[in-house]
Amino acid sequence: MALMPDFSDQVILITGAGRGLGRSMALKLARCGALIGLVDIDAEACEDAANAIRAEGGQALSLPADVSSREALMGVAQRLAGERGRIDAVINNAMLLHYEPLESITEATLQRMVSIGINGSVWGAQALLAHYDPQRGGAIINMASPVTNRGFPNTAAYSLVKGAIVTLTKVLAAELGPKGIRVNALSPGSVPTPGALGLNDKAEYERRTRTIPLRRLGSEDDNAEACTFLLSPEASFINGEILHVDGGIAAAG
Ligand SMILES: NC(=O)c1ccc[n+]([C@@H]2O[C@H](COP(=O)([O-])OP(=O)(O)OC[C@H]3O[C@@H](n4cnc5c(N)ncnc54)[C@H](O)[C@@H]3O)[C@@H](O)[C@H]2O)c1
Repeated sequence: MALMPDFSDQVILITGAGRGLGRSMALKLARCGALIGLVDIDAEACEDAANAIRAEGGQALSLPADVSSREALMGVAQRLAGERGRIDAVINNAMLLHYEPLESITEATLQRMVSIGINGSVWGAQALLAHYDPQRGGAIINMASPVTNRGFPNTAAYSLVKGAIVTLTKVLAAELGPKGIRVNALSPGSVPTPGALGLNDKAEYERRTRTIPLRRLGSEDDNAEACTFLLSPEASFINGEILHVDGGIAAAG
């Protein structure tokens, strides 16, 4: 049975919400009653996801922006906060899913991936800090990956960003915990989203299915349910956790 906490008093900003895991978390949290601010660099996808929420009777604001720009992300966070005077949670989900061998990584690619994944997560955390209500507390969810648990060849740029995000999660859990802000990460494994399908072909997914301990790929719903739990009152003492939602990939190594 799906987890359905009452989030009708929650204002949640989700980056990379136009498609894939971000969109599914947005839909799920909106079904729980939250007002969702959807951020995506793809304005059309952003609007489409917001419309999908509204079509179900949910509340959504489409906020197209590039998360690598502090000014842009803080600007859309300000707009969302203007709705109810605060933001309760930020999900730093936007990322460029891109693998390539070490020798071909260019300065531009590395810089772009770092600025979306690392800078974007720092700006997202600053946005929550700027707009949370100290009386109510707040929450940040970052997106990690099983690539932080062991070395996957040809993923240097992507993996170092995800490694930094795990570190950021722990640092901010310690730094912001005293302010009543919980900071956790989800670590989803092998979900064939539009972005991931650009990295892995069908044969690779079949191979992975045979090696994942639970013998199936992850789904967008698996991740959205775990996200809902992390934002729920039942998770109120969980801070600094990297929650693996991967069928056992990280554990099996
Ligand atoms: N799919 C998986 O198997 C998997 C596994 C582990 C971790 N993750 C992580 O989950 C998150 C979502 O991944 P996904 O599979 O849904 O990817 P996806 O590529 O399908 O979706 C990513 C979204 O982020 C948006 N985006 C990219 N750059 C942006 C920017 N600069 N500003 C704003 N939006 C931007 C894209 O337009 C897209 O809508 C990522 O952080 C990814 O690293 C995914």
